[in-house]
Amino acid sequence: MAHGESGSGPKDPLVLLHAFPLNRRMWAPQVRALEGERRVITPDYPGFGRSPRPCAQPDVRHYAEGVRELLDGLHLERVALGGLSMGGYVAFACLRLFPERISALVLANTRPDPDTEEARETRRELARRVAEEGVEILPDLQMERLLSRQTLQNKPEVVEDVRRMILESSPDGVVAALGAMRDRPDSTDLLGEIGVPTLVLGGEEDAISTPEVMERMASGIPDSRYVALPNAGHLSNLEAPEEFNAALAGFLARV
Ligand code: MLT
Repeated sequence: MAHGESGSGPKDPLVLLHAFPLNRRMWAPQVRALEGERRVITPDYPGFGRSPRPCAQPDVRHYAEGVRELLDGLHLERVALGGLSMGGYVAFACLRLFPERISALVLANTRPDPDTEEARETRRELARRVAEEGVEILPDLQMERLLSRQTLQNKPEVVEDVRRMILESSPDGVVAALGAMRDRPDSTDLLGEIGVPTLVLGGEEDAISTPEVMERMASGIPDSRYVALPNAGHLSNLEAPEEFNAALAGFLARV
């Protein structure tokens, strides 16, 4: 996996896993805020950002194996792990694969339950369209899912940045990620076994991972704290970066 890397510090490095259909650049506000005191590592999934395209249909475990290989390659025994949305799905797969290497967890705008049959069908249809028509169809289809009304109206620079990131994705990467998300396992049973401090962060306007979903997820994790960010939708780290960073930095300072 291609990855970005920045900063240094005495504590465990922080690995941040991106959302669909974006790439590691979405973490720029968090990297800037944290790099003064901590090493921050931001992978790109296969077919996104600078990572080579996937050669077959991966499952979420495959993405987690990529994260483990990255940690091995960087000789990192333990890290704090964070993921937003699809990044959370991959973080759950990492928890299954190598829980002993995760010292703290951040779950942002994500959910533990699998897709409904209707959502699976929507992903099949979207994958078919992207394979035939390319990633150019995605911004119009995704923007209102990903961003709150306030962001769409008042933050054109965020809208433009998200659009650019989406268009940097390869059709193969998008189709692979849709398949992996569609077939991801139910992680609800995993919540009670999470043995590390966990920050659950969401946007009050997130229509995909709603505050109800996030609150329920947090209540299932023994050592967790839930923070809901006002005026933020699904991409809360980009929509409310200062509030997101404050919650993240406060959490990381304690773990
Ligand atoms: C994401 O932001 O990663 C996706 O919207 C997640 C999903 O579609 O389930």
